[in-house]
Amino acid sequence: MKSNIIVIFGGSGDLAKRKLMPALCLLHSGNKLDKDFIILGVGRTKLDNESYRRSIGDGLSKYLSVNEVCNVNKENFLSRIHYLKMDPAKEQDYTLLKEAISALAGNVGKILYYLATPPSLYEQIPANLLKSALNTPESRIIVEKPFGYNLQSAGKMNDILRSAFAEKQIFRIDHFLGKETVQNILAFRFANGIFEPLWNRNYIDRVEITAVENMGIEDRGGFYEGAGALRDMVQNHLIQLLALVAMEPPVAFNEQEFRNEVVKVYRSLRPLTDEEISKNVVRGQYIASHRKDGIKINGYREEKSVAADSYTETFLAMKVNISNWRWEGVPFYIRTGKQMPTKVSEIIIHFRPTPHKLFNSSEGCPEQNQLVIRIQPNEGAVLKFDMKVPGSGFEVKQVPMAFTYDKLGGLPSGDAYSKLIEDCMNGEPVLFTRSDAVEASWNYFDPILRYWQENSDIPLYGYPAGTWGPPESDAIIEGGKCWTNPCKNLTDTDLYCEL
Ligand code: BG6
Repeated sequence: MKSNIIVIFGGSGDLAKRKLMPALCLLHSGNKLDKDFIILGVGRTKLDNESYRRSIGDGLSKYLSVNEVCNVNKENFLSRIHYLKMDPAKEQDYTLLKEAISALAGNVGKILYYLATPPSLYEQIPANLLKSALNTPESRIIVEKPFGYNLQSAGKMNDILRSAFAEKQIFRIDHFLGKETVQNILAFRFANGIFEPLWNRNYIDRVEITAVENMGIEDRGGFYEGAGALRDMVQNHLIQLLALVAMEPPVAFNEQEFRNEVVKVYRSLRPLTDEEISKNVVRGQYIASHRKDGIKINGYREEKSVAADSYTETFLAMKVNISNWRWEGVPFYIRTGKQMPTKVSEIIIHFRPTPHKLFNSSEGCPEQNQLVIRIQPNEGAVLKFDMKVPGSGFEVKQVPMAFTYDKLGGLPSGDAYSKLIEDCMNGEPVLFTRSDAVEASWNYFDPILRYWQENSDIPLYGYPAGTWGPPESDAIIEGGKCWTNPCKNLTDTDLYCEL
């Protein structure tokens, strides 16, 4: 099914401008949309079609690369875009929506709804679509993360969505799953015979998952205040990455089998006790600082729409344990943060060291083999292992064996949002999150939120913008080991490389 009308709730918001419209524009340039498609942005902001198109057009120039924009018939794309001022929380406004859809599409049929609003509206919109009979059997609905604020609200949200739409019409999006490099974790693990025998507690010492950014919250203060790093990144993107690393091989790569294995991982996450939360979960918030080039970066509390005494975390690091046959005893360390030194997402598998140390290693090199899966940027994978340094004596040094995407004919192609929106239009749910996965993930994270809420003395550490977060996060890693701060160059083997 190709929808002939795409209704974006939150049409004047940041997500629509930054990600959704560019993604739709790319789909249009690849002839992937219905030939008569129309996009209707809806929101509370007062705008006319003209000014809405202008603002979307500016966003396309800003967020698409020059080549991509050139490939697109931008004017034609913009001419398909319309705007309707309405309040999605008010049932009576849906009459306006119905009229606009009929006038633009000729009928109320194949509609793709995109919920890109603050999550506080996620319950009202489906309920209002139901009451206004806009939940047609041919329609589909994409829901942005975070899916709820906690387990209870996620459950309620799922119930409301399912009262208006069948599960096969609901697409809960996590754009990390649309990334080529994230999908490649599956290929890496399950299309090769050599890694899987090592992929368990007998050979793996620990796993690190890092997804950090060198920017702040930009204009998203209103959203971020109600979210924080746990809801924004950890409960969805990071735990999804963990699931791909930890899952059992699915019987087949289809919506049922693949998603069953993801849920199994979430169900095996060992619940955290209060004591473990205070010891193994570290939260932080960036404070003002000067970057190397002298530019001042505002602290989080100075950002627009952020309370001056905000307790929202912009950094989170934690230790996760998986209680199952394969992973018992192997810690998974995950962390995310805003205003870090660089933007990078990567997974590092640390293999166990050799049982006996025969050789000296050259200064500063880690002695354990590492597999680095770089999600972004400089996408690729590197296996690090020790080799003898030429010359007399017997000193070993760690060297990289690297795969970079140019070996596959270029950078990972396609935009994550385009790929997932296209999948949704084709009725392909495999890369979308199932309701039981959402709830199983919340079931694990809920106690952390509750503990923070009930214990106002739990520290929120300030960290200067441009650093790797509060040093207290180092204490999470056991055995005198530390976080591996990613290098710019994927094949760099130095521990302390320049960014
Ligand atoms: C979004 C978060 O889901 O992911 C943002 O809401 C974050 O806060 C973004 O910046 C990171 O995604 P990407 O694809 O840029 O790594």
